[in-house]
Amino acid sequence: MLRVAVIPGDGIGPEVTKEALRVLDVASREDSISIEFEELPLGAAHHLKTGEVISDETIERLGEKDAVLLGALGDPRVKPGVLEKGILLRLRFHFDQYVNLRPVLLYDGIPSALSGDGRRIAMRFVRENTEDFYVGLGARVGKGISKSELVLKRKAYEAKFDIGVDLKDVEDLAYQIGVVTSYGARRVLDYAFELAKAKHSDIVTSVDKANVLTEIYGLWREEVVKASERHGIMSEFQYVDAVALHMVRNPERFKVLVTPNLFGDILTDLGAALQGGLGFAPSGNINPEGVSMFEPVHGSAPDIAGLGLANPVGAILSAALMLDTLGHSDSAARIEKAVQDVLRAGKHKTPDIGGTTSTSNMGDAIVENLKKTSC
Ligand code: NAD
Ligand code: IPM
Ligand code: MN
Repeated sequence: MLRVAVIPGDGIGPEVTKEALRVLDVASREDSISIEFEELPLGAAHHLKTGEVISDETIERLGEKDAVLLGALGDPRVKPGVLEKGILLRLRFHFDQYVNLRPVLLYDGIPSALSGDGRRIAMRFVRENTEDFYVGLGARVGKGISKSELVLKRKAYEAKFDIGVDLKDVEDLAYQIGVVTSYGARRVLDYAFELAKAKHSDIVTSVDKANVLTEIYGLWREEVVKASERHGIMSEFQYVDAVALHMVRNPERFKVLVTPNLFGDILTDLGAALQGGLGFAPSGNINPEGVSMFEPVHGSAPDIAGLGLANPVGAILSAALMLDTLGHSDSAARIEKAVQDVLRAGKHKTPDIGGTTSTSNMGDAIVENLKKTSC
């Protein structure tokens, strides 16, 4: 029995999650996997009604699950960051989901933002998910002398920063710290090199900006060299700005890319454009020894929420990634094939790629294909 918590969340989150759950329902029944779902009403509505973002009890409850399936968080009525940092990042950090796996696969029948037929875009981003500029350490200070004590607490380590600022001549200054540890880099790099081995790639591309952020990405690079030796697989260093260029000019050259947190966030939205749009992009926040959380790459898309316009494919593929991570790779592959079949046939297209198929009709088509192929 798998225990899965479901957080539909905000905006289009509930719409796309509903379709992912329907697909999971059929796939798990066909493959005799029993899944017990518990839905948790977290997000803007809950926050606006109760003032609470997420309680310690809820986090404890999530800790008893095998996985979490999430739609999206963020709402124009709530200050940016309250829900995104308060729920999404809190869960990624609390459950130490240090790998953010984001496959960028262009399926047949889907128009990439790039021109050219028959493109074979198949790259996998392994984004570090607990460090870098996401650690949330920073402050805003005014003129004169000020002091801040900032604390970074992780399961395996703790770091205290005492920062004094003596600000002259301007009124306001804000700073935010990026952190890389050898421990944090090593474990995500190990995952990336293992993935490269599994995908028969002989090279891992490491993305950084070591020519400017010399301290944090200098340490990152040292760990890349060691990981490459440990795993007997080559590595190459690419600056993030050049990766953006190559992703557009020649995305076929990339197979497995490993990135610090912030660059991984940005490049995977670019990756989503290459695979047809944000509606097609799945992701997993993975702790191989703990509770992992699966969600589409996109956000709550308030501009199209509630209209049946959202593409549910990213959410459905995230559910497949969940099954795969939980050891049900055959079932995951069947979902992925159903998605591919429906997309290739071209009869069902959501509005993001110029069609008129609604969110639920896209879910119907994938569910029907799944039923047909498994009987
Ligand atoms: P977004 O990903 O929500 O939307 C960007 C654009 O892509 C919009 O035009 C939207 O309509 C479109 N889009 C996104 N998903 C789509 C889908 N499934 N089908 C069709 N079109 C889709 O990004 P944003 O507008 O920058 O952010 C909106 C809110 O979501 C913000 O509050 C942001 O903080 C939050 N956010 C949350 C997550 C998450 O929960 N993982 C991720 C990104 C952004
Ligand atoms: C994502 C999102 C999040 C991130 C935000 C909402 C915290 O953009 O999952 O890509 O930056 O990781
Ligand atoms: Mn993002």
